[in-house]
Order: sequence, then C-alpha cells, then structure tokens
Amino acid sequence: MYDTLFQPVTINHTVLKNRVVMAPMSTNLGKGGGGVSEDQINYYTEKARNEVGLIITEAMSVHPTGAHRVRKMSLMKDDYIPELRRLTDSVHRFGTAIIAQINHQGRTVTFMPDGYSAMAPSPIASRKTGIVPREMTQEDIQELLSAFAKAAMRAEQAGFDGVEVHGGHGYLITQFLSKRWNKRDDKYGGSLDNRMRFPLELVDVIRASVSSDFIVSYRIESNEYAENGVTLSESCKLAELLQEHGVNVINVVGGNNEVPEEQFKSIATMYTPDCYFVEAAEEIKKHVTVPVMVAGKIRTPEEAEDIINGGNVDLILLGRTLVADPEWAVKTKEGRAQDIHRCVSCNAGCISKINEQQSISCVQNTLLGTCVSHLKHAEKSLNIAVVGAGITGLEFSLRAAQRGHKVTVWDKSPVPGGQVLLAAASPDKGVFKELINWRYKECKENGVAFYFNTPFDVHQDLSKYDKIVVATGASPIRLQIKGNKQTIDAWDVFDGSSSYGGWKKAVIVGAGATGLELAHLLGHHGIETIIVEMTENVGANVVPTVRAALLNELRRYSVDIRTKAPIVSYNDGVVICGSDGSTTTIENVDAVITAVGVRQNKSLVDELTEINYDAENIICLGDANGRGDILVDSASAFEAALAL
Ligand SMILES: Cc1cc2nc3c(=O)[nH]c(=O)nc-3n(C[C@H](O)[C@H](O)[C@H](O)COP(=O)(O)O)c2cc1C
Ligand code: SF4
Repeated sequence: MYDTLFQPVTINHTVLKNRVVMAPMSTNLGKGGGGVSEDQINYYTEKARNEVGLIITEAMSVHPTGAHRVRKMSLMKDDYIPELRRLTDSVHRFGTAIIAQINHQGRTVTFMPDGYSAMAPSPIASRKTGIVPREMTQEDIQELLSAFAKAAMRAEQAGFDGVEVHGGHGYLITQFLSKRWNKRDDKYGGSLDNRMRFPLELVDVIRASVSSDFIVSYRIESNEYAENGVTLSESCKLAELLQEHGVNVINVVGGNNEVPEEQFKSIATMYTPDCYFVEAAEEIKKHVTVPVMVAGKIRTPEEAEDIINGGNVDLILLGRTLVADPEWAVKTKEGRAQDIHRCVSCNAGCISKINEQQSISCVQNTLLGTCVSHLKHAEKSLNIAVVGAGITGLEFSLRAAQRGHKVTVWDKSPVPGGQVLLAAASPDKGVFKELINWRYKECKENGVAFYFNTPFDVHQDLSKYDKIVVATGASPIRLQIKGNKQTIDAWDVFDGSSSYGGWKKAVIVGAGATGLELAHLLGHHGIETIIVEMTENVGANVVPTVRAALLNELRRYSVDIRTKAPIVSYNDGVVICGSDGSTTTIENVDAVITAVGVRQNKSLVDELTEINYDAENIICLGDANGRGDILVDSASAFEAALAL
C-alpha cells in the first residue's frame, strides 16, 4: 500500500528514504534573537521520528533587514552553528534529511533590530506595514548576495543536508522577479532576463560557497495570481535556468503572503480544492530534469500517492497536514490511514498565530510539539462527568481519559459534534466533521462512556463525581423583527429544520461568520442573497485568510452585502432596512434569516449552584464559558484536562 510514496529518491547525492517532505513553516517557537529552542528541536524531531523523509525548516534570516519575526531561527551569525548542529543531529538520528530554508522579506518585513530600515528592489509601500522601503543600491545587492552565501556556508557547517532559497510568496526574491514590485531601470529590472538576474546570481554565489554534494533547493513562485505578477510561463523559464545554475530540486508554490486578501491563495482555506499547485508543478517539471516537489493541501495518502504516480512530480510536501498530525507518514506507511487527524484548512491556529507573532498552534493538534505518551498520568484518578459532546467536551474528555481519569459524557443530541456539525453543513466545510470524528473515536478507545439523547440529571447522586464539566455550548440569539412575517434563524437552516427549497430571494441579517457562511450556502443553491448588517463590520469574527477566501466565494455568487443597514421591518415579502441615514426597500423576499450571534448555555451551572453543588468542582468550558472560537476552546479544554 502506498508503495510509490515510500520509494527512495535521490536529490543531488543525498538518498531520501521516501518522498514525504515536511514543508517549510514558521513556528515562532525559537528562543528569541535567532537561537534554536528545545521546543523547536522537539517539534522537528517529532516529524523525523514519524517517518518524514526530508524536513525543510522554517524560513531563517540571513540579514538583519530581512528578519521578520522575533522568535525565528537565524543563520546570520556563526554563534548559532552549535545549536543548529543539535537540531540536525537530532533529526539525522532517524534517517531523515534536513534542509535549511533561507529568506529575506524585502518590502514586507515586519520586524528589524534597531538601526536598520526596510529595503526592496523598488520603493513601493508595504501593504502590511505601510512603510516605504528604500530602493536597494548595487552595494545593497552585493551585501545581500554575500549574506545568503555566508548563511549557506553556516548551514553546511551546522550539518544541514542543503539549503532552500525561498523564491516564493512575494518575499524579496519574488519582488525582484515580479513586474508588480520591480520597477528598476538598471540591469535588475525591466526584461524577464533582468528580473531573473538576482535569483540566478544568488544561486551562483551559494553554489560557489558550499560543497558539490550539498543540496541547493529553490522554492519557486509558480504564479502570483495578480495583475503584473509572476506568471507560470516566467517561472518555467526561471526553473530551466535555475537548473543550469546548479539548483538540485525545485519546490513549487504560488501566491503572495503580504496580506490575507492574497495569502489565502498560498496557504489555502477550505474553499480551495486539494492539491491546488500540482498542475503548475507538472508544467514546471516539463522544463527541468531535477526532482520537483509540490505543496498545497495534500491531505490524504491517496492524494499523495496519485501525485507521485502521475509521474511528473517527484516528492510531496506536507505543511499543515503535518501540523495537524505529525504521525501522518508513519500511519500511512503502517496502513493506519483511517487514524490520521486531517487538517481542516481552517487557518485558525497555524498561519493566523504566526501572522499575529504568536507560536504555532492547531485546532486538530492541541499536543503540538509533544506526543500523547508525554501526557503525564494524573496522581489520582478522578471520576468526571462531562456535559456536552462538542469539540470542547470531546477534547477535554480525551485528554482527561488519556491521563487516567474516569470520564462519562452526556449530550441531549443523538450524536456528538454540537455546533461543529452546523459549521460542517455549509459548502466546502464538510471536512469540519474531522474535528469531531477522531476525537470521538479516540475517546471511546480510551474508555470514555457516552450517553446520547440524554440530558444531564442534576438530581442524581452527584457525590460520586469529583468534577462536573459544563461544555454545553451556546444557542442562537433569536431576533424579533417588526412586521407580520416570521423570521428564521440561521441554525435552523444549517440543521435542516427549515428548508430553503422554494426560495428565490433571501435576506440575511448579520454579516458575522454565520451570516456569511449561510450566504455561501444559499448562493451555492442559486438563491439571490442580500446580507444586511447594522455595523460597518463584515466577517469580523472570521480568521483573516478565511474571510478573504469566503468573500471571494460570495462575490462569485453575487451576494449583495450592505453595511450600516439595520433591518427595520419584514412584512409580506418586503424588507425595509436602513441605508445612509434613510431607509431602503427590498422586495419579493421569500425568507429573512437572522444570524446575529449566540448566548452561552450556562443554565446547568445555575442549576448546580441552586442545589449547592460545590462551585470549585464545576469547570465551565468553551462557548458555555463565553469563548466561541474553536482554537481557544480546544486549547482551553486541553489545558483544563492537564490541570487535573
Ligand atoms: C504556519 C505556517 C507557516 C509557514 N511558513 C513558511 C515559511 O517559513 N516558508 C515557506 O516557504 N512557506 C511557509 N509556509 C507555507 C507552507 O510551506 C506551504 O507551502 C503552505 O502551507 C501550503 O501547504 P499546506 O496546504 O500543506 O499547508 C507556511 C505555512 C504555514 C501554515
Ligand atoms: S489550525 Fe486548522 S489549518 Fe492550521 S494546521 Fe490545524 S487544522 Fe490545519
């Protein structure tokens, strides 16, 4: 099974044990100041231990003007070599190769030590920081070429098997290549030959600084998906020349990371099909003989195997797939694919946290960087009642059971899932069921008992429980609107209790996550949809990259989003709402659906308090505790289980 994926492959002179590569991903787990932390060593070693063939590290800085995060690894100084050597030794123990990615952010840099200013091929303001970088002089270019070369030398001294030049995602190297960001009129700007000069000179100086066995990988911008941006035909030409200049492997990506409105194309959400860079990689492969690898929502072993079997791509890169489940490769190899915890492309942890300068985290992997066997067994086994089998209740129950507690779960619904099941009902979000499925399965494997269709009875003998966990979620706020027609709540549409079968035109009240996702569902079914929102905010509670992708979908379905438009009334197919201090009328409306937020379901806490149950033994988690964010909720459930 999956034989092709586990075939060895040679890059330059290094034989990799298989074709599974960990994609480069910033972690913000570093020590600060460029050093390597124990957390980082554990994080990478965990992937090596679990059968990944090659690891490409997070982007490392080579020069102070391109150091875009405080807690990232660096190759700027010799001082880091011993710490990096500990990392490479730790990974090599498992027969896994490791390559250091080197990068400079150019105009998009967000962090620099004092005394430095941003520089780029051309002085165009960063959309991230608003800062206009200075135009790089010939001396700046020479200084950076030398900085990259020295970084590559240090990587070799630190025991890495190679370096990867980050030529993608709109950073410095793409900025030279792209007509969008390169307005120079010297030998580095203008024609494609001139725009390719910097990346090719960069490869030349690196190749000249390292041994011939050392791998030089190039992460290529296949397509910037923007007017005047890098095109696939340009990147095919560049790939050809990169190979001539000594690059040993091409790593294909696309898109630009500068702002969420574009980043959703490079780090795609649930609204982009799986394996979305494979076509570009196959096209690039036609122009080179060196191995080609590709990233981009490769989530299942079948997808990975099919890509390699297609014959035009040699290695697959897993980014978030390995964040969600570091054991993906070993589970695949051992025929346990059904046990994989799939990434759901929510971007709620991983890239959102990195963009906020926080450490990497994941809704599917609260253990991130450690492993189940490291969960300390509790000193005393407690008897715990958990009420609510949504993501919060399940996460808590699983971790508590893994620590040796006896856990029983009650839910008044017939199945586990809670609100996640509503989220999974909108188009492209069916994968959200994966947040529930594995947790439920592993809860049962760890001895958790479940009572479904069963509300928790506070009048039973509660003295047998050491703790009662309230994870009862939230309920929609049902808005009363003036008029003679009834409104529906979004949850009733998502759970199927209200049918949209005969609707031609609908008005949604509220442009938060629920309203936008409902508009997506209705638009998808050909229903003319108008959202009226009383504030100026659209999707304020949606993860930025997901919001950008979702709004893109809504534009496809011509959803009309009106802000500062409070609904006034709904009578016989006519909605009146505010508009610029006046009112406007929407006619022929078949339904008005409200999506105006939720209120905590905390009544169980009140009932327990009324019967004088010891408040110290009540743990209220998730939406019931007023959170309402799957990342925070799963993390707080995990922490609560660890604290017992
Ligand atoms: C948290 C996070 C950090 C990333 N950091 C980097 C990086 O440092 N260098 C890089 O080339 N790509 C980076 N990427 C992009 C990934 O390497 C990969 O191309 C992208 O996530 C698509 O693959 P996936 O769908 O398997 O995650 C990052 C992605 C994520 C999610
Ligand atoms: S936070 Fe979401 S997108 Fe990121 S790795 Fe985890 S499941 Fe995937």
